[in-house]
Amino acid sequence: MPLTVSDRARNVIASPIRKYVPLIKAAEEAGAEFIKLHIGDPDLDAPPRILRAIRSYAGKTLPYAPSSGLPEHVAAWQAYYGKLGVAIAPSDFVPTAGCAEAIQMAMMAVADPGDDILCFEPLYTGFKAAARMFGVNLVPVPLDIADNFALPAIAEIEKRVTPKTKAIIVINPDNPTGKAWRKEELEAVLAVAGRRNLFVISDETYREIVFKGKPSTMLSFPRYRDRVIVVDSLSKRFSVPGARMGCVVSFNRDVSGAVLKFAMARLSTPTIEQLAVAPLLRDPGAYVKKVVAEYKARRDAAVGALAKIPGVVHGRPEGAFYVVAKLPIPDADAFVRFLIQDFRKDGVSVTVTPIKDFYATPGRGADEIRIALVRPPAVIKKGIGLLAQALKEYGAERSRDKAVKR
Ligand SMILES: Cc1ncc(COP(=O)(O)O)c(C=O)c1O
Repeated sequence: MPLTVSDRARNVIASPIRKYVPLIKAAEEAGAEFIKLHIGDPDLDAPPRILRAIRSYAGKTLPYAPSSGLPEHVAAWQAYYGKLGVAIAPSDFVPTAGCAEAIQMAMMAVADPGDDILCFEPLYTGFKAAARMFGVNLVPVPLDIADNFALPAIAEIEKRVTPKTKAIIVINPDNPTGKAWRKEELEAVLAVAGRRNLFVISDETYREIVFKGKPSTMLSFPRYRDRVIVVDSLSKRFSVPGARMGCVVSFNRDVSGAVLKFAMARLSTPTIEQLAVAPLLRDPGAYVKKVVAEYKARRDAAVGALAKIPGVVHGRPEGAFYVVAKLPIPDADAFVRFLIQDFRKDGVSVTVTPIKDFYATPGRGADEIRIALVRPPAVIKKGIGLLAQALKEYGAERSRDKAVKR
């Protein structure tokens, strides 16, 4: 009898962001250079305070941390949420290996195989991968680049709720759209959750990275306290994705209790990093302010450069550090392969991510890409300039191919 892996193993998706890495590596080995705007891996220096603390760890042993977090770490998160006006108790909080693990635990806590979770598409692919692993169906509410990903009429959300629906996902600010949700939009989604007895999984990884208005959290709506599960992370706001520092915060005892048991099953998150991030969590102001100003300058550079390319429709991000662009070509996957394998300007090309895999609806987003603003403004401008030239060349090549076929 042949050995077979699980349905889960067969169904899980590869990261659409990371799948081009081997192609890029092969091109680099052949001498190509790339302006890399495909992965949301911050290029900004990590806070020196965190690096110093990691380097100066003086312990003679490196023990496990408790699954519920080291007391210093938990207290620092409490202080951080306190500044957002939200009082959390240690039992409301479970540390996780980044928001990626927090997403998985939140999803496992609320949905069984065969259940539905509503989402707005396009959405961060970590949710899609988790849903596939757990046999959960993501039911998309489509947002449209033409109106900068505005929320549709509430009836559009509500009509998708069925007896199998367990939760609604909100990513605020959003990857990939850069949408920063307005208070009324959050309230509208919470009201649906209230009416239809659903949880809301609120991914607030990019909380501070908003270009107008103040950072917020869905935990600050007292009426919906029991429904909201925040999944959070220091990866982006502190530029430390390698520290793997995230958390689940929920005032719902059943949820936080279940998440703590999931956490116990994989023991703990890194001890040294938990200690190292605590001082900055208590006092993130100056570092985060600089980071936000830098991303705003990058957003401006990207949007300005995209606006000059004929036929391109682009989002106008209000937060996070990505821009979605709809290109005047049918298949962004083929175009990205062209960028990696064929297009060169003085030996240099640019990498971006096709986002059809950020949609739950098959076929949507085939002509769209995401640009990650992970290089300084001048480099982003240059990268988007290369994109414009590549589009021209690609268009010319396609017309030539068509002419030959005729
Ligand atoms: C919206 C969103 N959530 C979660 C994550 C996962 O981040 P991490 O696991 O590093 O905290 C990312 C990473 O890009 C993201 O964009």
